[in-house]
Amino acid sequence: MCGIVGYVGYRNAREVLISGLAKLEYRGYDSAGVAVRTETGLTVRKKAGKLANLVADLDQDQIEGTLGIGHTRWATHGLPNDRNAHPHATEDGRIVIIHNGIIENYLPLKEALQERGHTFRSDTDSEVLAHLIEEKYAQEDGHLERAVRAALKDVRGAYGIVVTHVDHQEIVAARTVSPLVMGVGEGEMFLASDVPALLPYTRDMVYLHDGDLVVLHQDGYHITTLDGTPVQREVSHIDWDAEAAEKGGFDTYMLKEIHEQPQALTNTLMGRLHDETGEVRLDITLDPASFDRVHIVACGTAYYAGLVGEYLIEQLARVPVEVDVASEYRYRQPIVDERTLVIVVSQSGETIDTLEALREAKKSGARTLGVINAKGSSMTREVDDTLYIHAGPEIGVASTKAYTSMVGAMLLLALWLGRARGTLATERGQDLLHAARELPRLVEESLTPERVAAIEAVAAKYKDARDYLFLGRGVNAPTAFEGALKLKEISYIHAEAYAAGEMKHGPIALIDASLPVVVIATESVLLEKTISNIQEVRARAGRVIALVSEGDVEASRHADDVIVVPRADEMVSPVVNVVALQLLSYFTATLLGKDVDKPRNLAKSVTVE
Ligand code: M6R
Repeated sequence: MCGIVGYVGYRNAREVLISGLAKLEYRGYDSAGVAVRTETGLTVRKKAGKLANLVADLDQDQIEGTLGIGHTRWATHGLPNDRNAHPHATEDGRIVIIHNGIIENYLPLKEALQERGHTFRSDTDSEVLAHLIEEKYAQEDGHLERAVRAALKDVRGAYGIVVTHVDHQEIVAARTVSPLVMGVGEGEMFLASDVPALLPYTRDMVYLHDGDLVVLHQDGYHITTLDGTPVQREVSHIDWDAEAAEKGGFDTYMLKEIHEQPQALTNTLMGRLHDETGEVRLDITLDPASFDRVHIVACGTAYYAGLVGEYLIEQLARVPVEVDVASEYRYRQPIVDERTLVIVVSQSGETIDTLEALREAKKSGARTLGVINAKGSSMTREVDDTLYIHAGPEIGVASTKAYTSMVGAMLLLALWLGRARGTLATERGQDLLHAARELPRLVEESLTPERVAAIEAVAAKYKDARDYLFLGRGVNAPTAFEGALKLKEISYIHAEAYAAGEMKHGPIALIDASLPVVVIATESVLLEKTISNIQEVRARAGRVIALVSEGDVEASRHADDVIVVPRADEMVSPVVNVVALQLLSYFTATLLGKDVDKPRNLAKSVTVE
């Protein structure tokens, strides 16, 4: 969690820091702060709230310097106020630090430091780092790199840390768990938690590994392990278009990303589906015969993509699949051995719950596969194989295009396994290959101005509801779960989701005339049963919003409102159906005046347990 930017070079550091932090606000926006090395010392400015508050403060009183560090915070320890904002300085103001992560043993460290005379000015775990480094700096005869290394030996936990000292035109940074990437320029060096912060300045990046410590000067850098052994890390050239990370004419990143789904799906699917041979090619080393069961592990939206994956893999490849939320998986002692394939699904590739679950599974000898968006992320470095979803940078906190691309990737995997294991009949395989190929077009059709306007009208009609219920069956039960999550995340309306057949076992008691019930009633072998569920809702005066396939006459007859989506093969329909639910949530939230790109209490990438 949190975003970090560092700069040393010849430019105005303040500008580099602010433009970088603006790109990282998706990682947290409880407060923001910078420290710049000026002619008079290290000047720290920090403000609670979004980056705009800090910018307004800086605009009143400019700070000039060519070295600086900046932070945008997602609070873990201590309220999101000015004093807990980063950077944190020593009492004499000669050392400043920024920290992303959690120092697990900060309490005993803090008590010991207080006994030795240090006064703390925040409630954060991070501040111990400033005081520890100050002590080590004195013990190491004013050598900042050695001081940071010595201090980190005393701490336990996760960190991406950047440090600077008033007497040194250098930044020292280190990481364990929390991500840090270094940008290499000419006569300047950069650091950030994520690549988009640096793209305006350089495309040459070095991804720091766990346990790396780097010293940055204007003219270069050197990397060592925490014990001081020099290491070389590859410089990767990034070819993303910087524009790709901007809003591109849409009001919000979320809306832009919803509309990018046809392109994202094209990137996920194409080049992997081969019509001539009917093959799926995944460019992974995984042997389809090397496992007898599959565990899918993920969080949030990625978990729901995993549930769709379970359905598809079991149906098409006939391998038993279990799906777990990552935060539970590692603690429930799952039965994992060398014949288990563990698939981690993640947009960021940095979600700590998923990363730790992966590590746990590896200890038991599992084969591992990542279904991941972010290139070079921690998970991609730890799995045996990565099936990149290629959705492009996703900035909106509410995941949209990453979800549909994850489901697309799950479909590819299920088709590939079904083919390889001989469980998928040739003709059905060809049909599904064709259906997969059609997905970008079908999603494009879901996004015509007429369809979008129709969904906006439904959102307007129900926007003042206090609660919502979402129902779906079979492969679209996860679509209902994801629809409810999206609505909760960005509109703050309470929403629950159930497999439609489960409604009568309890949730039916909630139904009255004030409860909108979204029912996924698109083309399916279970459609008749879903219509019965709709009637059960109607019989209790519930208001039904039915999601139906184009040309439907049956389900629509029983609904108060209808959202029509393009007709798709049931096995690929979760991709098409969820788009309508994304838009329903989007318009509900914007009509209620919510900030959909930065919903309260959330962060794009959750790198604390
Ligand atoms: O980066 P990841 O896919 O691992 O993130 C997992 C969840 O934190 C994420 O999907 C979260 O639920 C989103 N806010 C959903 O919109």
